[in-house]
Amino acid sequence: MLMLGIETSCDETAAAVVEETADPRRPWRVCSSVVASQVAIHREWGGVVPELASRQHLRDICGVVERAVQEAGVSLPAVDAVAVTQGPGLVGSLLVGVSFAKSLALALGRPLVAVHHLAGHIESLFLEHGPLPLPAVVLVVSGGHTSLFDIRQAGVYRSIGRTRDDAAGEAYDKVAKLLGLGYPGGPIIDALAKEGNDHAVLFPMSRMTHRDRVAPERTVRFEFSFSGIKTSVLRYVQGQRIGAPIDAARGVRGEPVPQARTLSAQETRDIAASFQRVVVETLLDRTFAAAGWARAKSIGIAGGVSANSRLRRDAAIRGEAAALPVFVPSLHLSTDNAAMIAAAGLRRFHEGARADWDLNADASLAL
Ligand code: KG4
Ligand code: ZN
Repeated sequence: MLMLGIETSCDETAAAVVEETADPRRPWRVCSSVVASQVAIHREWGGVVPELASRQHLRDICGVVERAVQEAGVSLPAVDAVAVTQGPGLVGSLLVGVSFAKSLALALGRPLVAVHHLAGHIESLFLEHGPLPLPAVVLVVSGGHTSLFDIRQAGVYRSIGRTRDDAAGEAYDKVAKLLGLGYPGGPIIDALAKEGNDHAVLFPMSRMTHRDRVAPERTVRFEFSFSGIKTSVLRYVQGQRIGAPIDAARGVRGEPVPQARTLSAQETRDIAASFQRVVVETLLDRTFAAAGWARAKSIGIAGGVSANSRLRRDAAIRGEAAALPVFVPSLHLSTDNAAMIAAAGLRRFHEGARADWDLNADASLAL
């Protein structure tokens, strides 16, 4: 069976063809995966501009789908079903993919499957590695989400924690912006941090109390918070620029010296490394704690931030120490793509999911 996946939830127009195989260890094979990135357009504005994003999806969607089919070496009528991201995401962007997928499926006389964007990120792990040992704890960490899922049965995702404020990728992007490094910030900070001292600045880690972790209904939660570290970096940078004594945990102290100065390249690298250390430690502390609580047999980390080199390295080291296999998708399956949507679509298809022709985009779709 050939599934065509379409993804337009944010600033990437993506289409992919994924084939079902007869091998239970690798049930899905990526035949093609095409991503048209809008980064160059949004970079100028320091972040994604929703109106520009939806207009660009309109321009790119036909060519991207055509190329995905071509690169898979098939023709459109060979496609057995169409899967599309229904949400969450930017509503104008989602609408382009949903409308296109509905029209295409109707014209081809093929079934349509609606997919949740985070289910796509989770399934990117199964697409890349085959079935994960279950139960698994999966961290989805991207520009819009930082969420933990307990998976006891393939295709059933139980939320056990999420961020209370910013997503980790959002914190990367905001810190890069305030350091004047450009957009998107994740890959830039990742590269700079390699040359920085990660203990140069001791930014505080967010800690959760017992009450934070145990919800009123007495269910355990593994919550994250990343707005505090972003503010600490901002205060630290402001303090350095005006030469004021600084306490990273509390902000600027004492009388500021009035001349502003720019940070040196090494100071910027040190801040990047120190920020990244705290973010990665926070992500891994919670994920491994959740895995212990769930008695997980494996850990998965997916989403754009899973491309981070330190997160990958530290996760592998901790996994080895805990004798717990850690799975991460390859780089092109970490950031937004349509192969993961096609894979999630195949799973949903076999569960019997079919979307009606009145399917609508849902910007805050729940998983
Ligand atoms: O999954 P994704 O492509 O889109 C969303 O669903 O949000 O994730 C994009 C996010 C951006 O915030 C970007 O800065 C971050 O992933 N990112 C990274 C790296 N590569 C992308 N963050 C840290 N290190 C990276 N190497
Ligand atoms: Zn994503």
